[in-house]
Amino acid sequence: MLIKSIPSWIVKENHATPEDVYLNRRTLMKGVTAGVAAGAIGGAAIGGAAIAQEGRAPMEAVRNEAYELDRELTPEEVNLRYNNFYEFGSHKRIWANANENLVSRPWQVEIGGLVNNPMTLDVDELIRKVGGLEERLYRLRCVEAWSMTVPWIGFSFATLASLAEPLGSAKYLRMETFGDPKMGNGIASQPWYPWPYVESITMDEVANELAFLVVGAYGRQVPNSMGAPIRMHLPWKYGFKSIKSIVKFTFVEERPVGFWEEISKGREYGFWANVNPEVPHPRWSQATERVLHTGERVPTLIYNGYGEQVAYMYAGLEDQPLFM
Ligand code: MTE
Repeated sequence: MLIKSIPSWIVKENHATPEDVYLNRRTLMKGVTAGVAAGAIGGAAIGGAAIAQEGRAPMEAVRNEAYELDRELTPEEVNLRYNNFYEFGSHKRIWANANENLVSRPWQVEIGGLVNNPMTLDVDELIRKVGGLEERLYRLRCVEAWSMTVPWIGFSFATLASLAEPLGSAKYLRMETFGDPKMGNGIASQPWYPWPYVESITMDEVANELAFLVVGAYGRQVPNSMGAPIRMHLPWKYGFKSIKSIVKFTFVEERPVGFWEEISKGREYGFWANVNPEVPHPRWSQATERVLHTGERVPTLIYNGYGEQVAYMYAGLEDQPLFM
């Protein structure tokens, strides 16, 4: 059996096809300019955005103005056609495959482990229980040194924790993606990967105000290619931590091993994965990032610019590899 010890996304990205080669530039530009002119975040069905929004119900959410961006939003059409989602293949153009094959509703979510209140429920019931969604504009910095910005819709991890009531013995929250090879044909075609995709965060991180569970983007349900119907977004960590299409949340005592951590044996993709421009990846610099769709390369910021809200969680842990 072929064992790949180095994630192939890295190789692919380093030799990535320029976006304008594989995106339909004209459709894209039409959708984007119209969308921006109308000040629309997802609501209006215009040009290429109409295709992007097909089948995704609008979602009501209140914009949380506390989260401001230092750059333009990445157009919806770009975000949902430039993805890492290995369950559908190991290249950036998985969107059509994910759109066609990911059946994201109905979708059962299991919340359990060390909790007072375990539950298994439909994702829409979970959303109803949460009682009110927020929209937050966040940056996403991939370990491959590209970045994007997204108007995510969702709720805080703290809200999930308050529903489940974790016990004092819970130290980590483990999350798991679906593992059905009939739905994700990348699972069947890449048997050397340790499916299902798993990620985890500490209880401090669960409680952090920035930690966000995403159920929508650009005013509608989150697109399949971006991890429908529910994914995580932790804006201060490299993107691979932000697991997509979650089916299971388990509060645990032992630190779980993440998907990429297991593949790279901790050499490249560690548990913490906090963004830091001064700590290079073993094979490239993390000092700057390519901002998708702009043609710009900008300096990367420590904790992706969110240090004020998150740095306190890592005080006293300096002996650990916090930035890989
Ligand atoms: N979640 C699952 N289940 N499978 C994946 O392959 N890729 C990760 C993360 N979550 C991945 C995943 C990586 S490497 C990144 S950079 C982000 O998703 C990309 O999110 P996006 O495609 O919405 O930009």
